[in-house]
Amino acid sequence: MSRMFVPGPVDVADEVLAAQTKPMIPHRSKDFEAIFRRCDEKLRQVFFTEHPVYISTSSGSGLQEAGIRNFANETVLSCVNGAFAKRWYDVAIANNKQADKLEVAWGEVIKPDQLAEALKQKHYEVVTIVHNETSTGAENPVKELAKVVHDTSPDTLILVDAVSSLGGVKIECDAWGLDFLLTSSQKCFALPPGLAFGSASERAMKKAESVKFRGWYFDLLLLEKHRQKDSTPMTPAMSLIWALDVQLDRILAEGLENRFKRHAAMAKRTQDWAATKGMLPLAPEGYRSKTVSTINNTRNMDIAALNEFLKPKGLRIANGYGDLKGKTYRIAHMGEINMTDVDKLLTAMDEFLNQM
Ligand SMILES: Cc1ncc(COP(=O)(O)O)c(C=O)c1O
Repeated sequence: MSRMFVPGPVDVADEVLAAQTKPMIPHRSKDFEAIFRRCDEKLRQVFFTEHPVYISTSSGSGLQEAGIRNFANETVLSCVNGAFAKRWYDVAIANNKQADKLEVAWGEVIKPDQLAEALKQKHYEVVTIVHNETSTGAENPVKELAKVVHDTSPDTLILVDAVSSLGGVKIECDAWGLDFLLTSSQKCFALPPGLAFGSASERAMKKAESVKFRGWYFDLLLLEKHRQKDSTPMTPAMSLIWALDVQLDRILAEGLENRFKRHAAMAKRTQDWAATKGMLPLAPEGYRSKTVSTINNTRNMDIAALNEFLKPKGLRIANGYGDLKGKTYRIAHMGEINMTDVDKLLTAMDEFLNQM
């Protein structure tokens, strides 16, 4: 297996890739329903929720749209500290919502007092927060932010995108009181792209009943109606669901706590290495991502040349995102990546730096 230290799509284990070649079966059948049901049960463990986890044939952006369409008639507050948080705001605007931004510099995180202040200024039906901003490697303090929303504006629903962290970092959906938590298949779950998973609280589903124009494909009430029969309103991406079933077994066999520790240890190793080379992570200490290290490129490495150097070794990293291209680079350590892989990458990067 090659080792792609990029924040998705990531490497997928052979056994999981192979699972996709299983024959198709009718999706309106007992056999399919049993597999669909056990995927939901296993997903609930990873999401730390007792609520159903909807399996969507879309990428994560589809569920960003679902969150907006199902839970807000009008007002949305988007916490924006990077490209994907900005995308959620754009999704709200594109769906004709009255969306406001609570914006901080890219690389920074949203602080609880900033959110409290914004919620005191105006009432919002929903607030959107990206847990792990993949563009900047900053992890928002979602547990604290959720508490502030509960304390300041109790009926505001809390929508959280954990596309690049869920499955690699512990996010306790129910205990933190999150109303909608979503992720994609191609990152910490180490699956091929094409599925997204989302869990909604009871009060959020209740609210959806009063929201007009939820659309059809992402109508969570419709999905729920079919989920109760272990099915979907539309044809599910069956091959990906075979892969999901196998991968969830692998994730749970590793043990969630072990998995979270593995991701945290790889982040520390990578970020400590960068600091010894005089290159600090973009995000402030205490808020640095456990799944993707975004490092200031203060040694002015040519990232394209670095990737050419890494290629024969079967390694690859990611350039900075958008305006951060060249100024930062990103080492994703998620999914199947382990510490031996990280050591191999950092040794190769040492060689590259030495020959510069
Ligand atoms: C934090 C975050 N949110 C949303 C998205 C969009 O997800 P998708 O590409 O699965 O639609 C990404 C993609 O990289 C992301 O990193």
